[in-house]
Amino acid sequence: MKKITIKKILKKKNKTPIICLTAYSKTIAQIADKYCDIILVGDSLGMVLHGMKTTKGVSIETMMLHGKTVKSFAKKSLVVLDMPNKTYSNKNIAYKNAKKIIKQTKCDAVKLEGGKKVSKIIKYLVKKKIPVMGHVGLMPQTSSNFKLKGKNSTQRKKILEDAKSVSKSGAFALVIECVVESLAKKITKCVTIPTIGIGASKYCDGQILVTDDMLGLSDFSPKFVKRYTNLRKIIDKSIMNYTKDVRARKFPAIKNVYK
Ligand code: KIV
Repeated sequence: MKKITIKKILKKKNKTPIICLTAYSKTIAQIADKYCDIILVGDSLGMVLHGMKTTKGVSIETMMLHGKTVKSFAKKSLVVLDMPNKTYSNKNIAYKNAKKIIKQTKCDAVKLEGGKKVSKIIKYLVKKKIPVMGHVGLMPQTSSNFKLKGKNSTQRKKILEDAKSVSKSGAFALVIECVVESLAKKITKCVTIPTIGIGASKYCDGQILVTDDMLGLSDFSPKFVKRYTNLRKIIDKSIMNYTKDVRARKFPAIKNVYK
């Protein structure tokens, strides 16, 4: 099993689609690792696992706890960890926190949300040998809503400038979240690093989804999510059957009992 490196990810631009998913736990990390190039320990875990309304309140300790687990069970994929809100407000704070994250979790890279505003920070981290993935378009840590971006020319211009700036700053890849297809296509053409889309069309160099969404575990189902199964329904049925068995004293059965 050959480890995916940043060099390999860069080589995939304009060639082979880059496969990415999120993981927060041992089991999902083990399964996703069989198929993915990149596994993201996303701060979406705040909403998905902990029921928060936004990702704004996710702590660095929570991220590191999940990051450590995912990294120790993902042997092949590149593991990227989201730096949570307010942990990269200037280059020194960003470096201190990114260094701590990498040291404690052993993750391969960190991800930062933002365009021009964070470019100097990305440049500094990269200079200090911390690989960085960028994230533009809809940025949940700072956005006031979860709406589609790039619908008007002012937004389009800004997002394109943001993407170019992140690419020039030395990031090795760029997540583009929830933007119109034509903008994602243009960004992918204009920047030298691979783009990873989520709600950003097939024209990106790779795709990412929140695993819980594509498995039908979460109750989040925007247009850009394809549900490959409905695990919520499967779990619901299993728990209902367990309840029935216990009530009817059918569980534990003879085969589940120590004699
Ligand atoms: O937090 C997250 O899971 C993300 C993905 C949606 C890209 O940033």
